[in-house]
Amino acid sequence: MVINSCELTKQIGAVVEMSKLIIEKVRDISEEACKKETNIFGYGIWSHHIIYVVKYSKLMAEKLGADEEIVEIAALLHDYASIKNADYIKDHHIYGAQEAEKILMSLNYPSEKIEKVKDCIFSHRASVIVDKCSAEDVCVASADAMAHIDQVVSLLYSIYVNKEMGIEEGKEWVRNKIKRSWKKIDPVGKEIIRDKYTCALSVLE
Ligand SMILES: [Fe+2]
Ligand SMILES: [Fe+2]
Repeated sequence: MVINSCELTKQIGAVVEMSKLIIEKVRDISEEACKKETNIFGYGIWSHHIIYVVKYSKLMAEKLGADEEIVEIAALLHDYASIKNADYIKDHHIYGAQEAEKILMSLNYPSEKIEKVKDCIFSHRASVIVDKCSAEDVCVASADAMAHIDQVVSLLYSIYVNKEMGIEEGKEWVRNKIKRSWKKIDPVGKEIIRDKYTCALSVLE
């Protein structure tokens, strides 16, 4: 069968529209989970973490030539398991990959793309040593750490308000977290976030 250029343009347009629709649905699912009372982090994990992970994942994808759609969906769902159920926090990279699979299958997302999203979620944590095999994995893991540095206020809120730490203890905790986050970032990401990292550390010294 011969497809003319007009038909091909229509088909490409339909695929792009479908991708946008799926991203919007995943965005809604993630944000709704953040609004629930069962989310022990509060809505701030959406407003001061996830949307920044999305922002930096897409920026990293542009720089590294990774798949923007995969990284955006993975960024939206990377902490989903711990938001949905606090019992999953310790292994949220494992449960998160499983939850992402369920959500994306229900949206008829292609299975080969689901596997890529799952890999990104599974390998996003600095504290868990897992090989980051693809450019998409590197983007999401780096973006997670970059979001912590960009939104250091979110870490301070969590330490002083949620965990009720004292001033010095909290300062040290956040400083160490920021330093661990920095180590996790790909060199390309470090160039993007270097100034914010320097500023954050100077406040926390
Ligand atoms: Fe996480
Ligand atoms: Fe995160």
